[in-house]
Amino acid sequence: MEIELVQLQTHGDDRGALISLEDQRNVPFEIKRVYYLFSTKEGIRRGLHAHRNLRQMVIAVRGQCRFLLDDGKERVELFLDNPAQGLLVESMTWREMYDFSPDCVLMVLANEHYNESDYIRDYKEFLEIANGGSHAN
Ligand code: TYD
Repeated sequence: MEIELVQLQTHGDDRGALISLEDQRNVPFEIKRVYYLFSTKEGIRRGLHAHRNLRQMVIAVRGQCRFLLDDGKERVELFLDNPAQGLLVESMTWREMYDFSPDCVLMVLANEHYNESDYIRDYKEFLEIANGGSHAN
């Protein structure tokens, strides 16, 4: 599975650092929604779903967590701890996030508004669809 980590330019000077996110520039889609996860309790696993169509970019703007990506054929685990790296999570990718540091703020950019019908929350169903099964949507 190809993992795309976008290196985001940091505008740093003696006052500190700044990173700007712009659609079609350093984010390869139109940004329609931004949300962020924070105050995640110890031992909690989040995500545990895939999206039929949604494209996302995930950035650990503070702290760190582990991120599992699964395309139905291969599973890859990453450690996200760099606010200057954007992980692209394409559609039909199962994702799980865990081992959150107490200070972790995980920001997610998405190319669509929230839509529950775009979620696949059942791993078996995900595998069937990802591997070309005839499971009804
Ligand atoms: P959930 O999908 O469980 O988060 P995760 O999969 O990252 O663990 O979302 C938690 C709640 O927030 C759920 O009630 C749906 C709601 N929600 C929105 O209203 N808008 C959003 O953009 C997202 C991502 C979630």
